Order: sequence, then C-alpha cells, then structure tokens
Amino acid sequence: MTVFPPICQYFITRRCNGGCAICALRKGTCQEQTFKEAKQSMLDLEKGGVKGVKALGGEPTLVRWLPVLVSFVNNETGLRLAILSNCHFNKEMAERLVTAGLDTFFASYDIPETKDHGMREKARKAHEVLAFFRARGLKILGVNVVIAPHNVTSIAAIVEKMSSKGIWTNLSSIIHGKGNFVIRTEMAEGMLADKDRPHLEHLSQKLIELKKAGALITNSDEYILGLGTTGVDLDWHCTKPTMLQLDYDGQVMTCPDREGQKSFSPCDLLHGELDEFERQWKEDASKCSGCYWSAAFDAFFGLPAYWR
Ligand SMILES: C[S@@+](CC[C@H](N)C(=O)[O-])C[C@H]1O[C@@H](n2cnc3c(N)ncnc32)[C@H](O)[C@@H]1O
Ligand code: SF4
Repeated sequence: MTVFPPICQYFITRRCNGGCAICALRKGTCQEQTFKEAKQSMLDLEKGGVKGVKALGGEPTLVRWLPVLVSFVNNETGLRLAILSNCHFNKEMAERLVTAGLDTFFASYDIPETKDHGMREKARKAHEVLAFFRARGLKILGVNVVIAPHNVTSIAAIVEKMSSKGIWTNLSSIIHGKGNFVIRTEMAEGMLADKDRPHLEHLSQKLIELKKAGALITNSDEYILGLGTTGVDLDWHCTKPTMLQLDYDGQVMTCPDREGQKSFSPCDLLHGELDEFERQWKEDASKCSGCYWSAAFDAFFGLPAYWR
C-alpha cells in the first residue's frame, strides 16, 4: 500500500501581491495547475494517504478558484484543507472562503516590529482578517510568526495575546543564506547571530512554560528548545520527507527551498515512482547545508487531533 506523509504543502501559485524582504518565493510567470488538475492532485494525495493539505504560495488567495477547491475538498474528499495567507484579499474572497466551508486559516503575522512597510501591513491585516473569520465561526485560526533579532523579546507576549483569543502561533526562525534558494533571504537585518543566542535561550524556556500552561503553540518542544542553537546555525537536517511539497505545476518537490529535483506528480508516486522519489529526496538532502524552517516540518502536527 502506498503511504505518503500525512501532510502536503501546496504551493498553489508563486504569484504574490506582497513584497516581504525576508522572502524569495515570488517568481515571475509560471504555468500553474488548472482547477481540474488541482482537483485530481487532491484525489491522488488522498489515495496516497495524505490527511491534510496546506495551501500557500506565493499568495494563495490570488488563485480565483481557491474557494471552489476548498468546497471540493470538503465535499468530495476526506482531506482537510488549510490556508496560509498574507491577508491581502478583499471581503468578497473572505466571504467566498467562509461559504466554501474553510475551517482552518493561518495568517502571516511575521515581524510586525520591522521597518519593512509591507511586513508591518501584513500584521495589521492579519488582525482584521482573523477577527472576521473568528466572527464567522472558523474552527482553527493561527498566526505564523518569524523570529528575528529585533522581535525576539516580544514574541512571548505575542503568543500569550494570540492564545488568549484562541489563536495558535506557529514560530519560525528566519532562514537566510546566499545561493540558489527559493525561500531563504540574504537580508542581514533578519539574521539570527551569536549575540542573539542568550535571548533565544530565554525565549525557549518561556515558550516551553507557556506551552505547559496550555498556550496554543504549534511547534514541538524539540523545535522550541533548538532555537538558540539550530535556529542560529541553521544546521538542522531532515531525515525523511515529513511532508509532501506540491508545487504550482502539480509536481512534487524534494524540498521547497533548495529547488531540488521535480520529476513526479502525486499520480506518478501512486503508480510505482515513490521509491525513486525517495531516492531523489535523499540525494537532494545530502547536498543541503541545513535549515530550521518550522513551517515545513512542524506546523499542523502540533494542532489538535481534529486536524490530523
Ligand atoms: C512563503 S509565505 C506564503 C504564503 C503567503 N504569501 C504568506 O505570506 O503567508 C509563508 C510563510 O513563509 C515565511 N517566510 C518567508 N521567507 C522566510 C524566511 N526567509 N525565513 C522564515 N520564514 C519565511 C513567511 O513569513 C510566511 O509566513
Ligand atoms: S512571505 Fe508571502 S506575502 Fe511575503 S513575499 Fe513571500 S509569498 Fe509574498
């Protein structure tokens, strides 16, 4: 029997209406899947054993048929579908998502303390959109918060505030570096360095305490405890594909950040190519210097059993 990892990140588009300095994900024009192809991918993922799909991008809400996909997944499959967005969408899109039955939404809150206007605006919009979705009864709401040198001391307070409103926090240190990467930034402002280790250690302890006290944090204890070391050194290595990474063109990536090989669709994996995919994945992983991007590995595993 074919068994895919339980979660799939779906980079539904690389188009974006944001311009965050930390992110290199935006791409020019690209041939995205059609709605019909996306539906087939969802069915294939389900057949392979995937339980939940997280649609992100680029900016997923730029895909006009996103609400129809939510509705399809809810009505025609046993999958769950969540969205991670920069919240730059209008009321009509928000209403369409609610009507489609969206039940899990994560807003990028990122680094509200930054000088970068685009990122400050993201945090402002996140408040607005989360309040709207909460009023409309979505079951699971969360924020993605990026840990950078200038916000490390305010994160515990953000977690407490969000948690008190029933909102989950997913934390990620900024991943950075030079080279042919898809996500990581070269921006010096965001880099966690040796001088930040004591603050990160302190933050780790505080987050573990908060988690024990019931705060809504998606990250595993292992991830949180590694912030002061691995979060700075970015030398964490995955040992198996813990999530599938489906790209906008319907091909499964070995890694979302390294622009590794992309040779198979979920359908190919179902029909005998899984071993070859794992071989390619191992080859790609062996060339990686390491990372610590929690969104790729932790988020959604920490959520209530409802989501798994
Ligand atoms: C790439 S975006 C895609 C979805 C959507 N456009 C958004 O901004 O939420 C997903 C998340 O990746 C995070 N991200 C982007 N670049 C990053 C980096 N260099 N290090 C860590 N997280 C990063 C963003 O903060 C965002 O929360
Ligand atoms: S983090 Fe999201 S909104 Fe910002 S540039 Fe990247 S894809 Fe666009």
